[in-house]
Amino acid sequence: MEILKTPSDVQAKCQKWRSLGETICLVPTMGYYHAGHEDLMAYGRTLCDHLVVSLFVNPTQFGPTEDLANYPRDHARDSAIAEKHGCDLLFMPEPKDMYCDDHATWVEVPTMSKVLCGVSRPIHFRGVCTVVLKLFHISCATDAVFGQKDWQQQAILQRMVRDLNVPIHLHTRPTVREADGLALSSRNVYLSPEERAQAPKIYEGLLFAKDVVQSGERSVPRLRERVLKKWAQEIPLGRLDYLAVVDPVSLESLETIEDRALMACAVRLGKARLIDNILLSC
Ligand code: PAF
Repeated sequence: MEILKTPSDVQAKCQKWRSLGETICLVPTMGYYHAGHEDLMAYGRTLCDHLVVSLFVNPTQFGPTEDLANYPRDHARDSAIAEKHGCDLLFMPEPKDMYCDDHATWVEVPTMSKVLCGVSRPIHFRGVCTVVLKLFHISCATDAVFGQKDWQQQAILQRMVRDLNVPIHLHTRPTVREADGLALSSRNVYLSPEERAQAPKIYEGLLFAKDVVQSGERSVPRLRERVLKKWAQEIPLGRLDYLAVVDPVSLESLETIEDRALMACAVRLGKARLIDNILLSC
């Protein structure tokens, strides 16, 4: 596995592969790998001739009061994991390599970026779209893999790729969970033992919502009320950021579940802000 730091070196290498007619799968990451990242890499490895992993804690997707400085990092361990999964090229730029001092161009899907996580993280998805489009160009990727846990992120990126005719196939992998249902996240390390004990109740609430819909409930306000009541009892340390039911593609808010819907949430537990989601169908 080769480790490269500058966009121009990565682009030169990847352009060469593409000129030979070879395909490239990009797995964009911010590091501190867990089994969810490993699944993205293992899947990406099966898709293309080359696997490129980017490891970059992107400053432009963090708000001024967020955890950019403290975001967990372990580059030595991460490199070993990427290599284990057959990564050909690990791209580890510094912020100055990705953003010039006078960087002025931003990519945004405003309607989809202002809902759900966008309410409390107003610049987050603008930073994600901008860095991911840069990574697509730098890696010349034919394919890229994202996780379902960040449903809003992958829905926005699908829209960006469609709207801007980016020649890439996006793949979404199911959320990888702990045995007790907690969605894997690099930020789970922020949880105290008491918070960790309550965290799996988030997904239990989403599974409960799925059952309630299967039993015939179609009203989103009533469904929300039942989940929130359960969480109030079972996650006393939690502070709700949002619980919403939206169209899975457009992310528009729904009042009634008629076909496929996405229930998505963010819950703060101590220093961690945990997100999760589930598809509801009737
Ligand atoms: O999902 C993430 O880890 C990040 O948002 C991504 C896609 C690597 C962009 O920085």
